[in-house]
Amino acid sequence: MEGVDEIAVEVEGLVKVYEGGFRALDGVDLEVRAGGIFALLGPNGAGKTTLMRILTTQLRPTSGRARVFGLDVAREGAKVRKLIGYVPQEISVWTDISGYENLLAYAEIYGIAPGERGDAIWGALEYMGLGDVAHNLVKTYSGGMIRRLEIACALLIKPKIMFLDEPTIGLDPSARKLVWDKLSSFKREYGTTIFFNTHYMDEADLYSDEIAIINAGRIVASGSSGELKRSIGKELILLSLDGPAGDGVLGRIGGLGSVGHVIANGSEVSVVVEDAEAVLPALMEALRAEGIQARRVSISKPTLDDVFLKYAGTRIESAGRMSEVRHMRRRIRGG
Ligand SMILES: Nc1ncnc2c1ncn2[C@@H]1O[C@H](COP(=O)(O)OP(=O)(O)OP(=O)(O)O)[C@@H](O)[C@H]1O
Ligand SMILES: [Mg+2]
Repeated sequence: MEGVDEIAVEVEGLVKVYEGGFRALDGVDLEVRAGGIFALLGPNGAGKTTLMRILTTQLRPTSGRARVFGLDVAREGAKVRKLIGYVPQEISVWTDISGYENLLAYAEIYGIAPGERGDAIWGALEYMGLGDVAHNLVKTYSGGMIRRLEIACALLIKPKIMFLDEPTIGLDPSARKLVWDKLSSFKREYGTTIFFNTHYMDEADLYSDEIAIINAGRIVASGSSGELKRSIGKELILLSLDGPAGDGVLGRIGGLGSVGHVIANGSEVSVVVEDAEAVLPALMEALRAEGIQARRVSISKPTLDDVFLKYAGTRIESAGRMSEVRHMRRRIRGG
């Protein structure tokens, strides 16, 4: 069992300048705890793939340091590669052979002993819910099945950490959910750390324990989804009352602990709070004490979209991504 505070990934002052002079990473600092799910969230061209390629030892940094479980990715690449699984952004399986044959090829590549291959392959296939289609050609698989097959290949060596570059890009919501159900159960069973890149805010929100937001080669914010949201502002409770809000009720609401501004507009009242769910019972009680009823209550909280807007100065646009999705589909069809 891993120590509670073991560090899986540690990055300091990482810079990557591509040939031609483009500065894709501009001094990245990052720390990822072992055993959790970590999301690197950022728009097109932010540097997500560049960072992941450095962490998986495929690309050398220009300067700065990166370690995976204490091993330097530039100097101890062979050792790092024994610990990691990697699913790249583009398709990494052969589509003219079966899923089983893909896993067999990867088992050879990873140097799994012939006597152990059968168990490892069927274990990974069953884990990813592909047992029934193992002998079908991959070109007959859906996009979600292909993604799960790629993950199965990466799981063959039971990695200590899995790197997934946009694991659900182009998948529909139910296929995305299935991928995450499988990944989460694998993580629970083997304590594998999961590091994924995404530009889907809801995916980072739903599935990660920690998030770092990257924009133009820099980490602009990091923390849990809740911490990030709380860091940019308060929550708002909107009340529609059954009559105009008088001074009595406004005074009572304003006097509640941890309530900020109270703004009244006829029977509509807005209350600024730190934690809406925590305040709500006392708020309802205050209304009752004044003989007033709320017809409607709604809570508005900052979203990760707001967080991104504040720290990156723009919104994450997904419209520009359609070309990539189409590209992926073409590759699936074309084999
Ligand atoms: N081999 C290369 N040579 C020069 N520039 C590159 C190279 N690879 C990537 N870049 C540039 O570096 C920047 C970061 O690219 P990267 O692929 O890391 O971004 P990303 O966040 O993964 O984007 P996406 O969401 O599109 O996958 C982009 O502007 C890209 O054009
Ligand atoms: Mg990328």
